[in-house]
Amino acid sequence: MAEILVLYYSRGGSVARLARQIARGIGEVEGMSARIRSVPPVAAVTQSAAPPVPDEGAPYVEARDLDECAGLILGSPTRFGNMAAPLKHWLDGLGAQWTSGTLVGKPAAAFTSTASMHGGQEATLLTMLVPLLHHGCILVGIPYTEPALSTTRGGGTPYGASHVSGHDDNPQLSDDEAQLARALGKRVAAIAARLTP
Ligand SMILES: Cc1cc2nc3c(=O)[nH]c(=O)nc-3n(C[C@H](O)[C@H](O)[C@H](O)COP(=O)(O)O)c2cc1C
Repeated sequence: MAEILVLYYSRGGSVARLARQIARGIGEVEGMSARIRSVPPVAAVTQSAAPPVPDEGAPYVEARDLDECAGLILGSPTRFGNMAAPLKHWLDGLGAQWTSGTLVGKPAAAFTSTASMHGGQEATLLTMLVPLLHHGCILVGIPYTEPALSTTRGGGTPYGASHVSGHDDNPQLSDDEAQLARALGKRVAAIAARLTP
């Protein structure tokens, strides 16, 4: 059984829900399963950091998760049109993996959540994909052969899965958003299955 690492940061639960749908899609591919992990919040040196194990949600990611995964799907809420600092902080610590080519040739994708419809989902997704190119990943999006991409009234983009949580920050996914998240997970897993010897 090969695994796709679904790695995210989520404060209000929207990105976490996308992660669960992506994991369902991965599980639809024979021989593939999802390994769901999170990154801890970051703190200034004058503040105390989070405990090493989260009280709830996915376990924090470890170096071996990157070694062992057959693909990678990164999730973050949008913060001013970009990924959140905890995920960027984690990415900035991957010098050793970059040097050794840990992720070279592995399929990868991104997902996000915004409060507003035009609040920067595509900017966030595209910029999340840039470091993955540096790591030699094969980038995967969502093709328009997915009908939900044309019918969605919320999230879901060709650049990756997404959710619009609205002014009340509701983490509940629409049917189209959930479908597109599953489709992304399934697509990354299917490509990884073909690439895995
Ligand atoms: C500091 C900060 C910056 C944000 N920037 C944006 C933004 O640029 N565009 C937007 O639509 N929402 C923005 N939001 C809202 C979050 O992206 C949105 O609530 C998201 O659904 C949260 O995901 P989560 O529930 O997984 O934490 C911002 C929120 C915070 C706290």
